[in-house]
Amino acid sequence: MTRQRHSNPFKPTAGRMPPLLIGRDNIINDFEEGLDDGPGAPGRLMRVTGARGVGKTVILTEFGRIAKNRKWEVIDETASNGLAQRLLDRLSPSNTAFNVSLKPSLSVTGMGSLNLGEANISSQQMPLTLREALSRKLDSLERKHAGLLVTIDEAQAAERADMVAIATAVQHLIREERDVAFIFAGLPTIASKWLNDEVLTFLRRAQAEQLGDIPLQDVKDAFEDTFHDSGITIDGEALDMAADATEGYPFMIQLVGYHIWRITYRRHQNEDRTSDSGIIVSEKDAAQGIANALNRLGDAVHGPELDGLSPIDKTYLLAMAQDNGPSSTSVVAERMGKDVNYANIYRTRLIDAQVIRDAGYGKVDFAIPYLRQYLREHAAYIRMSSAR
Ligand SMILES: Nc1ncnc2c1ncn2[C@@H]1O[C@H](COP(=O)(O)OP(=O)(O)O)[C@@H](O)[C@H]1O
Ligand SMILES: [Mg+2]
Repeated sequence: MTRQRHSNPFKPTAGRMPPLLIGRDNIINDFEEGLDDGPGAPGRLMRVTGARGVGKTVILTEFGRIAKNRKWEVIDETASNGLAQRLLDRLSPSNTAFNVSLKPSLSVTGMGSLNLGEANISSQQMPLTLREALSRKLDSLERKHAGLLVTIDEAQAAERADMVAIATAVQHLIREERDVAFIFAGLPTIASKWLNDEVLTFLRRAQAEQLGDIPLQDVKDAFEDTFHDSGITIDGEALDMAADATEGYPFMIQLVGYHIWRITYRRHQNEDRTSDSGIIVSEKDAAQGIANALNRLGDAVHGPELDGLSPIDKTYLLAMAQDNGPSSTSVVAERMGKDVNYANIYRTRLIDAQVIRDAGYGKVDFAIPYLRQYLREHAAYIRMSSAR
């Protein structure tokens, strides 16, 4: 008898489309409504924020899919250095007038040029050029009754000059009622970085969508369906354990699903299967899969998250991790050997970054699942590397 090999349906990889996109109906409706309602609709200019692993990249991909289904053209960019130039390159085929009409960039005092490549465009020309390129693209799309969706991921990392160029272009296009949608996604720090910037007021006016945890009942339903569709049954206590372990955190949903599926499938492959009664997830499979998932979560989420924080941010977190539940902010300050006002600066920063959350009555708690556990296990190492 030949054994059919199944492939694991779960995708615990940054940016990968999950087998089931769970709990995002509202934001998807907002976006679809924006496309339907035409130029000027709020859903056509959005900023999507949320912690690492909550599903920002995935939602941008989903928006792209929806737009393409409506025959829209989609440009997806990530906001690293040279964003505006890359956007321009993708809008204008290499042989168009853009390259010809551009003067070589002279460095403008205090601003510099945006790109070191051949088609250098000074940061002062860029807004105009970008606007013109977008307009031309829209001319041809609108003739076909189509529009243009531009998604910008990791927007917290953009260069200011790039954001200004894009902001200027977008504002004009919106005023001219063009068939365009711009969606920015990024870490919650986007708020402190861009929203106080005078020139970038348009971002403040963009519809704010905060991605958060998925209700556990939705997680349970999705687990049940996804396992079932791949020939494995999960129910009862094993299903409860699996769903609870995710804490509704999307990246953890994929990790837990992936590792439980894998353990169960392997066990089944190794068993003598004379009586083929189907594959069922046991409680032991669930427990082992959850443990494996947790190991991965540290490398994939907690490590990178902590790398992005300052030494004192980390000291604050380590002080919190001594508690088993919410921490009192004055006790945390005491443990840090600082006064409450000083400690509160870091409390605010960490809340803005959605690493911790306000738990009421002078208390704070962790906002990222299992971060407490990770900090305790790695405390010595974190303290050492913060001291440098
Ligand atoms: N709504 C969702 N339902 C289930 N899994 C999700 C959902 N959103 C994201 N994921 C999964 O979570 C992980 C992280 O998603 P990603 O979009 O990379 O997050 P971010 O860009 O916010 O860091 C991926 O493995 C993805 O498949
Ligand atoms: Mg991402």
